Amino acid sequence: GEWAYSDKLKEHFMNPKNILQGENTDDFDGVGMEGNLQCGDQMMVVIKVDKEKETITDCQWKTYGCASAIASTSVLSEMVKGRTLDAAFHISPKEVALELGGLPDHKIHCSVLGDKALRSAINNYYTRNGQEEKVKQEQVKVICQCMSITDHDIEDAVLE
Ligand code: FES
Repeated sequence: GEWAYSDKLKEHFMNPKNILQGENTDDFDGVGMEGNLQCGDQMMVVIKVDKEKETITDCQWKTYGCASAIASTSVLSEMVKGRTLDAAFHISPKEVALELGGLPDHKIHCSVLGDKALRSAINNYYTRNGQEEKVKQEQVKVICQCMSITDHDIEDAVLE
């Protein structure tokens, strides 16, 4: 069969960027942990924030997820640097997949993992900095266009 992964995905899988070394997250301003209910994999994303500008200055991560999760989170961690917290919060798995040169449909849930953990790191930053009013709830995202399936549908199906 044909190799379903782009060169960029392979490159980020072989040489992932911004991997968090060690267990210590004290130097970071926001920490997010997520699990992927579809496959049971886990992800941690940590951010440093320029508090004046509310921009992300550093984003590191680690995961027990698969190759697609590794590659998509590596790309995501590069994409968010310099963005405002609000802009970073709204990056979609689709944008990440596009940046990667595409992901097979059945692997989209893997790219959702990193971006969920990023959103929880951003919310964690707001909570730690007395800005609870900015904490945003997860938005429902359509992740399978052909059947209008959302990430919540997938999670519900797995939980049932
Ligand atoms: Fe679990 Fe990809 S299969 S993150």
